[in-house]
Amino acid sequence: MCGIVGYIGENNAADVLLGGLKRLEYRGYDSAGICMLDGGELHTERSVGKVQDLADKVYQNLPENIIQATRLGVAHTRWATHGEPSEENAHPHLDQSGRVALVHNGIIENYKEIRQRLTAAGHSFKSQTDSEVLAHLIGAYYGENGDFLQAVCGALNQVEGTFGIAALCLDQPDCVVVARRGSPIVVGLGHNETIVASDAAAIIAHTDQVIYLDDDDVALLKRDDVDLRNIHNVPVSRDVARIEWDARAAEKDGYDHFMLKEIFEQADSLCNTFRGRLDVKQGTAILSGLNLTPREMADIQKVLLIACGTSLHAAMLGKYYFEDLADLCTDVEPAAEFRYRNPIVHARDLAVAISQSGETADTLAAVREAMNKGARVTGLCNVVGSTIARETGTGVYLHAGPEIGVASTKAFTSQMMVLMMMALKFGRGRRLSIQKGLEIIKEIERTPELVAKTLELNQHIAGIAKKYHYVRDFFFIGRGYLYPVALEGALKLKEISYIHAEGYHAAELKHGPIALLEPDVPVLALACDVPGKDKLLGNVEECRARKAPVIGIATEDDEEAVSYLDEVIPVPRTSTLLAPLTAVIAAQLFAYHMARFRGCEIDQPRNLAKSVTVE
Ligand code: F6R
Repeated sequence: MCGIVGYIGENNAADVLLGGLKRLEYRGYDSAGICMLDGGELHTERSVGKVQDLADKVYQNLPENIIQATRLGVAHTRWATHGEPSEENAHPHLDQSGRVALVHNGIIENYKEIRQRLTAAGHSFKSQTDSEVLAHLIGAYYGENGDFLQAVCGALNQVEGTFGIAALCLDQPDCVVVARRGSPIVVGLGHNETIVASDAAAIIAHTDQVIYLDDDDVALLKRDDVDLRNIHNVPVSRDVARIEWDARAAEKDGYDHFMLKEIFEQADSLCNTFRGRLDVKQGTAILSGLNLTPREMADIQKVLLIACGTSLHAAMLGKYYFEDLADLCTDVEPAAEFRYRNPIVHARDLAVAISQSGETADTLAAVREAMNKGARVTGLCNVVGSTIARETGTGVYLHAGPEIGVASTKAFTSQMMVLMMMALKFGRGRRLSIQKGLEIIKEIERTPELVAKTLELNQHIAGIAKKYHYVRDFFFIGRGYLYPVALEGALKLKEISYIHAEGYHAAELKHGPIALLEPDVPVLALACDVPGKDKLLGNVEECRARKAPVIGIATEDDEEAVSYLDEVIPVPRTSTLLAPLTAVIAAQLFAYHMARFRGCEIDQPRNLAKSVTVE
C-alpha cells in the first residue's frame, strides 16, 4: 500500500527522499508528502497526485539553500484508506504542537476512540485520517516526558491495528524514529547515512546492508547508529541482511513500462527460480527451504494453497500440479475467505501461502489462522525478508527479482514454476517414477527457450490488440490447466485497461454468461493443444454462433484450431504442464498492448497498489 521513506545522513535529504518515493510510487500514488528538518524548522509539503507533483512543489516552494541544507526527513506516497486523496489527508501529519511529524502505513483500528479522547483534551485535527491521530498521540506523550523514543513507544502501546511509521521531532535534529507492526520497515545502513523505507527498492541505490524490523520493533536511527527496541522500550537485536539484487533491477532499463520489462524478463526470472533446484540424477527438485524430511512429506495428507489475486490464480494451477504429479488432495483457498470461515485444517495438512510481496494482509492473517489450527505452514514469496516469509519460517523464495509493475507478471510464472517443482518433489516421494521426474526436469529446463519464442509474438499480439482495444467487454475462456490462465488473462486486462473482462471455465459459459455475447463482445479462448482442446473448440463454436469474434491462443501449426478462430496467437508447442506458461505470457502481452492503445497508466492503474496490507 503506501510507501514510506526516512533519511538521516550527510546528503541533501530532499533529493534522497524524493528519489526514494519515486521508487516506491508503485505502492500507492494518490497523494504524497515530505517533511524535512533544518535550522530549527520543519519544512512540510504535500500534494495530491504523483510524486513528481510533490517534487515540483518542493523545488518551487523551498529556497535552494534550505533544500541543500536538509539532512533529515520523512516522506510518504499514499494509497487512501481513511479519507479521500487530498492535501489535508496526505502525510506527513503533524501533532498538536507542530513539533512531531509522522508518516504512517497501515490502519489504526481504534483511532476514533483515541481521537475523541484527544479532542476532549483540546486537540484539533486537520484531516480525517487515523494517521494524524497517531501523530497527535505521540505528541501528547512527548509533551509529558520530553523523550521522543519513549513517546513513540508509549503511543504505540495504545493503538490497535497495523503500522509502519517514520517520525521526526523538531527538538531532536539528529534522529528519526521508526516502528512496525504488520507493515514492512527496512532500515538501510549506509556510510554516514541511514535510510529507511517500506521496501528495499528505495534503499538499494544507497546500500545493500539492511535490517528488517520485526513486528513491534522500534528503532531510533542516527546517521551512524541504529538503536533497536521493542515497543516496551527494551533493547532487541536483529541481524543485518544483504539485499541480493542490484539497483538496475528497480529501473525500467529502456522499456516504456515496468510491466513490459517484467514480461520480457521472464526467461531470466524463471531461470533464477529453478537454478540449482533440480536434481538431474534423482529426477526431483531440491527445495531445502521447505525443511521437510521425506517421511514428513509422505505424511502430508492434504495441501492447502492460500493466496489472493494473481497469486490465487497460480494457486489454482498448483492444484493441478499437486493432484497430477503428487496424487495429493489439494484445496485452493482465497485467503480472505479462509481467515473468516471456520476451515477444517488437520495437523497433517500443509498450508502453502503464496504471495509475491509477502505482505498481503489477508494472506498473512490466513497463515496465522492455519498455524493456530495446527497445520504446517510454508511460504512462497518473492520479497526476501517479507513478513509471510519470516512468519512461516520455511518456504521457497521465487527469486524473480523485484516486481515493480502493479500488475503481477513475472511473479506469476515463477510461482507456477515453484509449485510445479514442489509437486515434483512431493510426487517423487510418492508414486512418481524417476523417468517421469526426469522428463519433467527436461521440460523445466526448456522454459527459457519457450518463453523467448513466445516473446517473439509481441508485435503480432500488438496488432491484434490494436484491432480490439476499443471494446467494452471481453470474455476469457479455458479448460483444465488453461482455466486459471483464463482467469488471470481477464484480471490482467481489466486491471490495466479498465475493460470489463470475465474469465470463465469454457464449459460454464453456456450456464449463463453466454447471454452477454454479441458481435462487439470478443472472446479470448485458451485453445492450446492439450487435453480438453476438442471440447474447448466446441465452446468456441458456441461463441461464434452468437457472432462473438474469437481470438485464440493456440499451439503453432495447429491447423484444426486455426479453422475455428478469427484471430490466432500461435504459441510454441509444449507439454500440458507448461501450456499455461506460454499462454499466460501471450495474455500478459495482449493486456499490455490493449492498455497501451487505450492510453492507460500501465504501471500505476487507478485505485490499485502493489502490496495490499489492509483487509
Ligand atoms: C494483480 C495483482 C494482485 C496481487 C494480489 C496478491 O496483477 O498483482 O492481484 O496478485 O494483490 O498480492 P501478493 O502476491 O503480493 O500477495
